[in-house]
Amino acid sequence: MVLVSAKEMIEKAHAGHYAIGQFNINNLEWTKAILAAAQEANSPVILGVSEGAAKYMCGFKTVVAMVKGIHDQMGITVPVAIHLDHGSFDGAKNAIEAGFTSVMFDGSHFPIEENIAKSKEIIEHAHSLGISVECEVGSIGGEEDGVVGAGEFADPQECKTISDLGVDFLAAGIGNIHGKYPANWPGLNFEVLGKIQELTEGKPLVLHGGSGIPAEQVAKAITLGVSKINVNTELQLEFAAATREYIMAGKDQESKGYDPRKLLAPGAKAIQTKVVAMMNQFGSANKA
Ligand code: 13P
Repeated sequence: MVLVSAKEMIEKAHAGHYAIGQFNINNLEWTKAILAAAQEANSPVILGVSEGAAKYMCGFKTVVAMVKGIHDQMGITVPVAIHLDHGSFDGAKNAIEAGFTSVMFDGSHFPIEENIAKSKEIIEHAHSLGISVECEVGSIGGEEDGVVGAGEFADPQECKTISDLGVDFLAAGIGNIHGKYPANWPGLNFEVLGKIQELTEGKPLVLHGGSGIPAEQVAKAITLGVSKINVNTELQLEFAAATREYIMAGKDQESKGYDPRKLLAPGAKAIQTKVVAMMNQFGSANKA
C-alpha cells in the first residue's frame, strides 16, 4: 500500500469526534517505532517532518525513500501520511516535489494578506496533485526547530478567511506551546477555539504542542473540532529517559550492550508504547 494524503483520515476523525496523531520523526528508529505503534493500535497515523529534521535526515527525498522502504518492509496496512511540519513557502513546494503526501504551509509570521496569498498558491498546487494542506493563523508559543512563535491567539475572522481558501485542516494558536509547558501555563483557550470552529463551519482543526497537555483539555479540544494533534517533545523525553536508564544501569557495558541495536532499543520501545497510549487517548485506535 502507498502513503496517503491526510485529508480522508482527518475528515473521518472530525465526523467521528476523535483525533489523528501527528508524531514527528527524527531518524530511522523513530519511524520504525511510530509505524509499529500505528499497526499495533490499528490506527491511521501522520508522520510529521519539520524542515530541521528533514535537513538532519539528509533532505526530503531521503526521508520519503526511508519512510516508503520501512513502511513496505514492515508490511504496514494502516493509512500513513507523510506531512511537512511548519513548512516555509519554498519548503512546502520542495516537499511536494519529493513525494510528501501532505504539507503544512506556516505563513503565520507574515501579514495576513501575504499569508492568504501564499496559502492560496500552495493549496492550489498541492490539491492539483491530491496532497492535503494545513495552514496556520495566530502562532504556537515556544520554539521548534528554529520556528519561534509568540503564542498570540488566532483571530477567528482570519481563520475563516484562510479556511475559505479550501485548506484541508487549520492550525490556530489557542495558547498552545511547542515544548514543555511552564508550571504557570493558563491552559488552552476554549472560547477562542469554539469561536474558530463556529466561524470556519466545521473545518477540522489542528492542535500543535500536543506534549504535556492535561487529558481533560485534550478531550475538550476534540469536542470543539480538533481532529489532528501534533506530538514531538513527548517522544523525545520518552526516548531520552529510557536510554538514560539503560546506560545508568550499566547495561551498555554488559554483553555487547554498546551495540547500537541494543543501546537504542529501550528508547524505541518507549516511543512505541507512548504512541499506542496516545492513539487510544485521542480515539484513533481501531479506526484504520
Ligand atoms: P510538541 O513538541 O510540544 O509536542 O509540539 C509538536 C508540534 O506541534 C509539531 O508541530
